[in-house]
Amino acid sequence: MKIAIGSDHAGFRLKEELRQYLESAGHAVTDLGTVSEESVDYPDYGHAVGRAVASGQADRGVAVCGTGIGIAIAANKVPGIRAGTPGDLFATRLMREHNDANVIAFGARLTAAPLAIAMLNLFLATEFAGGRHARRVGKLDNVQSSKNGV
Ligand code: RB5
Repeated sequence: MKIAIGSDHAGFRLKEELRQYLESAGHAVTDLGTVSEESVDYPDYGHAVGRAVASGQADRGVAVCGTGIGIAIAANKVPGIRAGTPGDLFATRLMREHNDANVIAFGARLTAAPLAIAMLNLFLATEFAGGRHARRVGKLDNVQSSKNGV
């Protein structure tokens, strides 16, 4: 799978671990930075991951910041992106089955690497359930494409 990954400084170490894991598992990974623990702004990296997925350059995106919240908000500002920050494996499965999430966000200050890797594997392996969920996901996109979202 083609996967875009990005983080801010707070997510850098976990992002590096996730990138190395994905590469060792045979995925084609595009690393959009950051490249160190020097302070940067998470919106820049959330937007970059979102744009890579929305443009089709990547099939899925992985975004990491301190909490996983700011960088998910940033990714979700890109039309077509459905990013979430799951707290556990159950939420990870449902973000794919129900929400057709295309970006997973992690909080490096909250989630240890082994759990993040397990969540990432589940995120990549789980298919969207469709059916009634397709109607609901369609409404998400309708809001994004309407004037001012209202
Ligand atoms: C950086 O200190 C921190 O604010 C950022 O990584 C993230 O947690 C924001 O949501």
